[in-house]
Amino acid sequence: MKIDGASYRSVWVDPRDGWSVRIFDQARLPWSLDILRLTTRDQVAHAISTMQVRGAPLIGAVAAYGLALALRTDNSSDALEHDAELLARTRPTAVNLRWAIERMLTRLRNTPAAERVRTAYDEAARICDEDAAQNAAIGQHGLRLIEQAALNKTAGEPVNVLTHCNAGWLATVDWGTALAPIYAAHDKALPVHVWVDETRPRNQGAALTAWELGHHGVPHTIIPDNAGGHLMQHNQVDLVIVGTDCVTRTGDVANKIGTYLKALAAHDNTVPFWVGLPSTTIDWRLRDGVRDIEIEQRGAEEVTHMTGRLPDGALATVQVTPDGSASANPAFDVTPARLVTGLITERGCCNANEAGLAGLFPDLA
Ligand code: MRU
Repeated sequence: MKIDGASYRSVWVDPRDGWSVRIFDQARLPWSLDILRLTTRDQVAHAISTMQVRGAPLIGAVAAYGLALALRTDNSSDALEHDAELLARTRPTAVNLRWAIERMLTRLRNTPAAERVRTAYDEAARICDEDAAQNAAIGQHGLRLIEQAALNKTAGEPVNVLTHCNAGWLATVDWGTALAPIYAAHDKALPVHVWVDETRPRNQGAALTAWELGHHGVPHTIIPDNAGGHLMQHNQVDLVIVGTDCVTRTGDVANKIGTYLKALAAHDNTVPFWVGLPSTTIDWRLRDGVRDIEIEQRGAEEVTHMTGRLPDGALATVQVTPDGSASANPAFDVTPARLVTGLITERGCCNANEAGLAGLFPDLA
C-alpha cells in the first residue's frame, strides 16, 4: 500500500542485513511514522503484546518471523516448541497468530536443525505473500458490494461505508481486509466515504484507520464510537464493513469491542453488515462464538488513560477517569452470525453460516 505515493508492506526483512525484521511502530501512529528493528524473539513478543504491531493477520506474519529470529539463537527442537508456545500466547483471540505458528511448526519439525533458520525465513515470507494476495482478492470481491451500493446513488454521490477499529493494511501484510474493498473502489475512481469509529479505548480507528485512509487520499470522517446508530437511522450509512480476529465454522465473528453494537444497530436499520476475512482467520473447531471464543482482557490503563499530542508537538498521556474507579477492558466481542449479512473472503462472498463457509472452503471445513 502507499504512504504518500511510496509502496510499503507492514512487515519486511531488512534488505541491508538480510535477517532483522522491520515493522512500523503502531503505538506511535498517527503522530510519527517510526520503523522498529526487531532482532530477537523477545522483542517480537513484546511488540505483539504491547500492540506496537497488531491486527490479526499481521501478528501472525510477525510471529512467524519471530520464530525465525529465535532459531538464529537456538535451532534445537526443544527450543522451537518453547519459542512457538511463547509467541502464540502473546495475544489470545487472533486465530491467525496460532495458525501461522502451527504452519511454521509443521514445516520446521521435519527440517534438519542446521537448515531451520533458512526454512523459517522462507516460510514466513510465503505467509506474507499469501496474506497480501488473499487481501487483494478480498478487495476485489468486496468491491462488487460497493459497486452495487453505488447503483442507488446519484452520479458523484459517495457510497458511505462505516468501519470499526483498524482492518486496513496496517493490520495485515498488505491491503487490509475490511478496507481492501474501499481501497479497490477508491482506486477505481468510485466515490466512497468512510465513517471511522474512533474505537476506544485504544483508538485504532481515530489513530490508524484515519491515518491510513488519509495517506491514501480516501475521504473519511472520524466519529465517536456511539454515533453509528444515529447515522444509520438517518440513512447516512450504506453498508458496514469490519474485519475480524476469529470466525467460527458457523459464521460467528469476534472483532474489536463495540462491533456487536454496530451489528445490532445495522440490523435494526436494515443496513448491510459485512465482514472481511482471509480463511486463515477461521477456527474450524469452534461452533458457538459467544461461548467458545477466548476474549482477550487487556490492562485497565488503556481505559483510564489516553495519549495524544500537545500544542507544542510533544506526546502526553493523561488520566481521564477518577482516582479509585474500577475499569474493565474486554478487547473483543462476538457478533452472532444471524446479525452478519455475509462474509467477504479471498474466494468470494458467502452467507455467515456453516453451509456458506463450507461451500467456499470444502478443503478446509
Ligand atoms: O486489538 P487489535 O487492534 O489487534 O484488533 C484488531 C481488530 O479488531 C481488527 O478488526 C482485526 O484484527 C481484523 S485485522 C484485518
